[in-house]
Amino acid sequence: MLNSKIVGLGHHVPETVVTNFDLEKKINTSDEWIKERTGIQERRFFKKGEDTVANMAAKAAKMALERAGVDKSEIEMIIFATITSDYYFPGSGVLLQRELGLGTIPCMDIKNQCSGFIYALETADNFIKAGKYKTILVVGGEIQSSVLDYSDEGRAVSVIFGDGAGVALVQATQEQDKGVLSTHLHSDGTYAEELAILDPGSSRPERLYKEMTNLDKTYCYMNGSMVFKHAVTKFPEVINEALEHNRKTVDDIDLLIPHQANLRISTAVGQRLGIADEKVYSNIQKYGNTTAASIPIAMSEAWAEGKIKDGDLVCLAAFGSGFTWASALIRW
Ligand code: ACO
Repeated sequence: MLNSKIVGLGHHVPETVVTNFDLEKKINTSDEWIKERTGIQERRFFKKGEDTVANMAAKAAKMALERAGVDKSEIEMIIFATITSDYYFPGSGVLLQRELGLGTIPCMDIKNQCSGFIYALETADNFIKAGKYKTILVVGGEIQSSVLDYSDEGRAVSVIFGDGAGVALVQATQEQDKGVLSTHLHSDGTYAEELAILDPGSSRPERLYKEMTNLDKTYCYMNGSMVFKHAVTKFPEVINEALEHNRKTVDDIDLLIPHQANLRISTAVGQRLGIADEKVYSNIQKYGNTTAASIPIAMSEAWAEGKIKDGDLVCLAAFGSGFTWASALIRW
């Protein structure tokens, strides 16, 4: 039976560093407020006219290919998780294909918010296990900074997000004890509007227009306390589901890489699980919340820092808008 394995990781973040102190000049906020509630110290914002979701992903993909020693001609499919694709349509997958010069391979975009990368990973894993493709580029990329509301109404959300891209190169392997052991996906549309951008939407009465008075609906709305309550319940639940499925316990995890939503959420999840702080990876301090890109960026950095070693048991977990939540257990 075929299994799938992550053979290369890469990431790219824009050059422009935006500290909390920089935000203080633009928003009615403070470094203290942001750090205390989110742990974030700085984030990266894209350079207008230069960075795109697709070209950041292309840089991340080149890093993953180089680290893996794999030629781009081996890539048979792109699965691109993003909620901020460069165009309304087509998705950023085909733009990445063009950027990398990958011929006519299939490209698929997945719009599943903060859980998007794990949804993309499960999709890739299933294509590989079915024997359809041997090498798939699984991508998470976002430009959030251009869709944030920097007014007082939006400040609780706008201080949280950042831009960037991360990539996992996933390949078929005959090894049965290595690679993606299992993935677990969930969603509950009951809460669809609790963390959402409603416009532009095709079932809305009007499309975007010049004098649009309802611009607030084009920005992200978040019911922060409701998101927090669900996140700290669903993260541990879906992590335990993955552990039970594989007859493992929390103590078996070498590294937990949660979606970098908010440091307070990751800390609360770690406490509920009873996992040591040093086993919970965190880089939200530097990048903020990069939605679908946060897990592959974190994996890529953790690997480069030597925190993911051959044979390690790595757990990925996410919770986000939808609500959607997911986990993956990987033997490196
Ligand atoms: N700077 C300064 N003051 C602010 C800011 C800001 N950026 N934003 C809000 N405030 C003010 C409010 O106006 C309010 O002032 P008031 O007491 O005078 O009315 C006060 O701070 C408290 O506002 P709340 O909205 O109650 O803020 P809260 O303490 O709940 O913190 C937060 C908001 C950080 C979003 C919190 O609800 C939270 O941690 N939620 C979890 C959700 C989350 O982190 N999601 C991440 C993205 S989604 C995902 O990835 C799953």
